[in-house]
Amino acid sequence: MQRGQFSSRFGFLMAAAGSAVGLGNIWSFPTNTAESGGGAFVAVYLILTFLLAYPALMAELTIGRHTQSNVVGALDKLANGTASRIAARTVGLGGVITAAMILSFYAIVAGWMLSYLFVPVAQITGLTGVEAWLTSGSPDNPGNWWFFTAIFSALTMLIIMKGIENGIEKWSSRLMPSLLTLLVVLIIYVMTQPGAMTGLQVYLVPNIADINTDLLLNALGQSFFSLSLGVGTMLVYGSYLSKQENLPKLGASLALIDVGIAFTAGLLIIPALFVAQAAGTEIYNEAGSLIAGPDLILQVLPSLFDSMGSIGMIVAFAFFALMSIAALTSSISMLEVPVSYLIEQRGMTRVRATQVAGSLILALSSLIVFNFGALFGLVVDTATVWLQPLLGVGLCIFVGWIWHRNSLIESIAEGAPEVRNSLFMKIWPTYVKFFCPALILLVLAQTVNLF
Ligand code: TRP
Repeated sequence: MQRGQFSSRFGFLMAAAGSAVGLGNIWSFPTNTAESGGGAFVAVYLILTFLLAYPALMAELTIGRHTQSNVVGALDKLANGTASRIAARTVGLGGVITAAMILSFYAIVAGWMLSYLFVPVAQITGLTGVEAWLTSGSPDNPGNWWFFTAIFSALTMLIIMKGIENGIEKWSSRLMPSLLTLLVVLIIYVMTQPGAMTGLQVYLVPNIADINTDLLLNALGQSFFSLSLGVGTMLVYGSYLSKQENLPKLGASLALIDVGIAFTAGLLIIPALFVAQAAGTEIYNEAGSLIAGPDLILQVLPSLFDSMGSIGMIVAFAFFALMSIAALTSSISMLEVPVSYLIEQRGMTRVRATQVAGSLILALSSLIVFNFGALFGLVVDTATVWLQPLLGVGLCIFVGWIWHRNSLIESIAEGAPEVRNSLFMKIWPTYVKFFCPALILLVLAQTVNLF
């Protein structure tokens, strides 16, 4: 069977950056920063991305491009004995299931973005009843949450059904430039408003006293989530990449784009919070810390937009369009993990595989929506705090211990012979073998208070 491939380096970069840049960058990075010590969090996050996430990203891209397979097939090809074959199944299927879990809650949050996108439309057309309905969702009244989750899931499925070049690549190449434009325009606007400079200061000046183990774990989770690591997303995108490409360089560009956009989004969100404060909105909670999470995005910012008069409607529309686009180019990369598995390991057509995976995941989303209090936080934490880093360790072990070192180096040097003598080649193979798994486990162990 003919496998799909990205048609150009630009196409791959847009798709992979589209996967990496998502609600993780524009929503959770700035709100995590607001919650845990401003500049200190930013500093730790940048260090962990460089020390742990980039090497793990390279592990995924290399495995993918070498094996030209979905995550289960790829690890199976690397395995060379019974034990490693069992490990391949465990990590591979673990990745497929975790990708599905992540998409199941991600689609709910993306649904919120979609519903708020229509608020200014309803305001302009004077549909007051619709406007009230759009923002009426809550754990006790999840009807509209479910509706928009289903719409968002359908959009994700429509793109994935079209395949690599006509679906993922085409839409990412269209949407990513729009995302960047919206982000820049919004920042310029917010920066000219009163209060913005106070926000900038909180965002950028680190307070070293804020650094603690919670912050460390938070920053690690954030960094793995933001680069879409552990579940085989980057692995499968790497598998659609031509053997001509220089992997270490592409991986580095990707990591830089990802942290660059997260950092830039912080320049929008945190100053916007303080602009809201200057306009009379409460931005600190009772405990005295900055309001974060859904309350920040769905209450503080909308009340800021409302206070801006009619231009506020345009700003609100641009902001939620930005969020929806970011979410969509990420969700397609999550769905591609189970879909590529069903196509290659279970012999389904792409359309069938998308229908099967998409509807199972929507069923899981529905379960979460209707049992929000009990399930949402649980699924988020299990998938992102635990499974993602653990599977990341598994992938590093495959590259470091199971894959033969010479063959690994040959595979990376393909398409980029100059890499053979680079600093990357001297350090990275040993680094993913020992330090990466050890450091990730060390950070995880901190949470369970083993030390
Ligand atoms: N990286 C995306 C974000 O920052 C989310 C994402 C896409 C993801 N694919 C993933 C997260 C795979 C974990 C695993 O929003």
